[in-house]
Amino acid sequence: MKILIPGGLGYIGSHMVEFLRDRNHEVVILDNLSTGNEWASLGCEVILVDLLDRDELKKKLCKRKFDGVIHFAAKSIVSESVLNPDLYYENNFVGTKNLIDVMEINEIQNIIFSSSAAVYGNPISNKIDENHPTVPINPYGKTKLMVEKYLEEKTLEGKINATCLRYFNAAGASYSKKIGECREPETHLIPNIIRSGINKDLNFDIFGDNYDTPDGTCIRDYIHVFDLAKAHYLALKEMNQKSNFQIYNLGSGAGFSIMEIKNTCEQVLNINIPYKIRPRREGDPAILVSDINKASKVLGWKPDNSEIKNIIETAYNFEKVKDSIIEASNGTDK
Ligand SMILES: NC(=O)c1ccc[n+]([C@@H]2O[C@H](COP(=O)([O-])OP(=O)(O)OC[C@H]3O[C@@H](n4cnc5c(N)ncnc54)[C@H](O)[C@@H]3O)[C@@H](O)[C@H]2O)c1
Repeated sequence: MKILIPGGLGYIGSHMVEFLRDRNHEVVILDNLSTGNEWASLGCEVILVDLLDRDELKKKLCKRKFDGVIHFAAKSIVSESVLNPDLYYENNFVGTKNLIDVMEINEIQNIIFSSSAAVYGNPISNKIDENHPTVPINPYGKTKLMVEKYLEEKTLEGKINATCLRYFNAAGASYSKKIGECREPETHLIPNIIRSGINKDLNFDIFGDNYDTPDGTCIRDYIHVFDLAKAHYLALKEMNQKSNFQIYNLGSGAGFSIMEIKNTCEQVLNINIPYKIRPRREGDPAILVSDINKASKVLGWKPDNSEIKNIIETAYNFEKVKDSIIEASNGTDK
């Protein structure tokens, strides 16, 4: 297959690129490097363009054919979306609409969209399945839901096939140790805990320890990026057989508290990791855990790399070599 990957220089996108390349598929990355990393291209063709630049997008993709598009390109920091909603509606919704326009012109049919558990808002059940009400409580989640609805509309017109994958918390890193999570500033829990373990000057904050959970800290569902990539692959194969609109949750189906994650990081790093308790953040539900029965049954998918210790070990292995990867790529650029 030949696949276009918008956002392929980002964290999850680069793991998708590696997964497809390892299975001898052809990959073309599209990215604007806003949060992505040049060193994550893994030697693939990269089209540098902003999805918001309609004319340039059309020009750069002119007459290019793909068997599918796996669309990761988005802004995804909840707190930033609260401070600057316009940026999120513009980048995430308008950017995706521009991409779909070009897909229609080029007669590319299949798109897999990176959606998020943020579309559900505050959970009303212990485990969240795809039929849970979607009432997002921040602009980020609202933009993801808007894109889902738009894609559904397009499939009803018979123009495209779309699969929306609602991820819970992506975590871990490639077994190759060539790619992993790397943002500045880092906003995700596991790399932040690991960094505070390695560098005592960095602070690791726990936002709230008085939630209605066994240890008072929030409970989340962590899914290894390799399992995410595998699910996209299976979903793409499924789309080639049936034309329609589908939504699947992707999580591990199990919840871990922030304190449990910290304790497992301490075990893996064999070190005490200091932390500070901060006030709760607005809009953080106590518990978010996925029901993944649909993806398991329909796609035959299992998150068998998502054992929490494995997630942390792979993240730590990447953190140890990350600086040398960045240095080597800077050297190559000069
Ligand atoms: N990381 C998670 O836990 C998580 C959870 C749920 C959903 N998601 C979704 O998964 C996708 C990937 O997340 P990630 O963690 O890899 O994020 P990331 O920020 O690492 O990757 C996003 C990539 O998209 C690119 N990009 C952004 N806007 C663009 C634009 N207008 N034009 C071209 N390229 C653009 C960035 O440069 C970056 O390479 C996002 O859509 C995100 O909302 C992530």
